[in-house]
Amino acid sequence: MISFPHLIVPLVSLILFIVFLFKWYGNPSSTARKRLPPSPPKLPIIGNLHQLGQLPHRSLQALSKCYGPLMLLHLGRLPVLVVSSADGAHEIMKNQDVVFSNRPKLRVIDKIIYGSKDMAFAPYGEYWRQVRSICVLQLLSNKRVQSFRRVREEEMSLMIEKIRHSSSSSINLSNILVSLTNDIICRVALGRKYIAAQESTKIVSKLKEFQELLVTFNPGDYIPWLDWINRVNDFNANVEKMARWFDDFFEGVVEEHRNRKKRETNLKDSSNEADLVDILLEIQRENMAGSPIENDTIKAVIFDIFVAGTDTSSTALVWTMAELLKHPKSMEKLQNEVRQVAGSKLDVTEDDLDKMLYLKAVMKESLRLHPPLPLLLPRESTQDSKILGYDIAVKTRVIINSCAIARDPLLWESPEDFCPERFLDTGMDFRGLNFEYIPFGAGRRGCPGITFAIAVAELALAKLMLNFNFGLPHGATEKDLDMTESPGDTVSKKIPLLVNVRKNNKY
Ligand code: HEM
Ligand SMILES: *[C@@H]1O[C@H](CO)[C@@H](O)[C@H](O)[C@H]1NC(C)=O
Ligand SMILES: *[C@@H]1O[C@H](CO)[C@@H](O)[C@H](O)[C@H]1NC(C)=O
Repeated sequence: MISFPHLIVPLVSLILFIVFLFKWYGNPSSTARKRLPPSPPKLPIIGNLHQLGQLPHRSLQALSKCYGPLMLLHLGRLPVLVVSSADGAHEIMKNQDVVFSNRPKLRVIDKIIYGSKDMAFAPYGEYWRQVRSICVLQLLSNKRVQSFRRVREEEMSLMIEKIRHSSSSSINLSNILVSLTNDIICRVALGRKYIAAQESTKIVSKLKEFQELLVTFNPGDYIPWLDWINRVNDFNANVEKMARWFDDFFEGVVEEHRNRKKRETNLKDSSNEADLVDILLEIQRENMAGSPIENDTIKAVIFDIFVAGTDTSSTALVWTMAELLKHPKSMEKLQNEVRQVAGSKLDVTEDDLDKMLYLKAVMKESLRLHPPLPLLLPRESTQDSKILGYDIAVKTRVIINSCAIARDPLLWESPEDFCPERFLDTGMDFRGLNFEYIPFGAGRRGCPGITFAIAVAELALAKLMLNFNFGLPHGATEKDLDMTESPGDTVSKKIPLLVNVRKNNKY
């Protein structure tokens, strides 16, 4: 028989050992220390704000080289998870997409886009689902994009004529491509006939102002007690003024469409394609969406298509042309392909694009090196979760650095080189299935405008390659071509692309 004093020593040691184990392997109680992603050292109050710099996607890429593919930054009081690896993106945009499909509330957007009644910034939920399904099924579907083929072809011809008849051999290609994408979106969304030419340039400059306002550093967003700054400077007043301008503009457009509809009793009989405002009004009238659509929703959705669709598309085209000018061998190869496909008909149409494999590879490579939205659009987590072993708290803002992922040397060979050939023998695509390459995002919140955007970009590129020979301005060499990026949510080429153009007389 063993006496009690004999037991006491092993018992006490056992208890101590268990206590020790609990301390070591994490405490199951609610005060447990979480395992957080690494964070760079931060300053008081501003946190890591000072580390973002002019080009946040580049600064964050550099930081991730020291702190790893998942970093937790603090922008003022705001916790921000920065994801710089394909694995991390896959976890967030696929495995745990539901948890990360919210967007943070951004005050400027809230004020200007009717309390975030649009699709891009609406919080994740029933309203967003309804608006998104209207857009995906009705406005941006393959069939609808096909129905605007004539608009694209007419606008492309106008662009070619404009270049052909320009008085000088040196042209501002940035300017030409911005007009092209803007004119196409204007016609598709609003129906150009109802928009006077001056109004259409006005909207371009207003959208630019809007984008500038969006990226204006707004201390109150990060440090709540600094909010008073916006009341004393003109910021809040400017936002109000802009909200009014856009509302007047879109209200006018919708009103004109309503009046026109009264005259043309049956849209389907008219010779014109229905534009997106027509379609939204029809959905509202026929109550096709399940629950009634408000007037503000129509204006907000059209606004979204302008904001999401114009700048991004022209930016992508300008970068593509710039890379081709920097790489004359690729340009020549592309030109040969396009001219060979055009053959004796001396023209290319959308039907020919599927035969242009190199052209598709060039577009992909350009979007890899220069994704127009390198940080996608911000997301926000709706519950506590675990990503690659780290604890991520509810309401953490999430930034996915698609640009860093697309240049990750672990995933890409010579990632900094422009080399369209890398896409030739792979099935790799930008539709959100390959997480090493996500210029359009992925998952529930991924870009619904891919088909629309690619239809415009590929045809524009083919037409330009067919009709002209491009070169750098007189005396410049490939090395002189400035590829500096401009600050902003959409990262475009800072210096406008000026090129020398020679007409190809055969076409
Ligand atoms: C080259 C051109 C374009 C690029 C690079 C691009 C890229 C993107 C990206 C990165 C996102 C965020 C995805 C995410 O958070 O995961 C996005 C969202 C969006 N894009 Fe695009 N986009 C382009 C063209 C367009 C066009 C032409 C349209 C419409 C006509 C469009 C409409 C939208 C909308 C509405 C959203 C928000 C979706 C949501 O939050 O549910 N985009 N786009
Ligand atoms: C070229 O076009 C862009 C875009 O419209 C414009 O901002 C820029 O001032 C133009 N530059 C020159 C030199 O014409
Ligand atoms: C939308 O605006 C029209 C015209 O101003 C008005 O007749 C209609 O009642 C409004 N509809 C809704 C749902 O607010």
